[in-house]
Amino acid sequence: ATVLILTALLGYLLGSVPFGLVITRALGLGDVRKIGSGNIGATNVLRTGSKPAAFATLILDGGKGAVAVLIARALAGGDAAQIAGLAAFLGHLYPVWLRFKGGKGVATFLGTVLALAWPVGLAACGTWLVAALLTRRSSLGALVSAALSAAWAVVLGHGDMVVLIVILAALVFWRHRSNIARIIAGEEPRIGGK
Ligand code: G3P
Repeated sequence: ATVLILTALLGYLLGSVPFGLVITRALGLGDVRKIGSGNIGATNVLRTGSKPAAFATLILDGGKGAVAVLIARALAGGDAAQIAGLAAFLGHLYPVWLRFKGGKGVATFLGTVLALAWPVGLAACGTWLVAALLTRRSSLGALVSAALSAAWAVVLGHGDMVVLIVILAALVFWRHRSNIARIIAGEEPRIGGK
């Protein structure tokens, strides 16, 4: 049980590193929380005008979830990997460093699922990509991907991930409340728009 708690704690700490904020500050792009949606994720980092910064945020926010899963799996097996992935995701959403005001979890969700079962992760990423390209809305891509990921897990033979995925997807929806309201009102900006 000790190693389980330690890997979960490590997952939370990794997840709580707000890469979008760190990168935009390091590059002198200003406070990402004061532009666009105010979110610290890659989509909003793109609104600073820097594609490299947005790409790095996407990779690092996804990577921290994946690394948490891989470390926990190596040290303590599959259940620990799922718990560490959840912890990293919660760390991103509720980082102690930002008074628990974190991101919306899309990149960390995708990275975590990729590391837990790459076919399910690829399906989730592909779903995000297709839905985001078709609708030109990052948030809508995320919502469609989150909503379908549990089904992908079942179809691809990873039923053991369904409970975790449903929890993650529910939190993704919860964190996109303002996006959902804007989508319904027809006011959600396009990817790369202001
Ligand atoms: O990654 C979050 C994305 O789905 C929406 O971001 O900044 O448009 O609220 P944003």
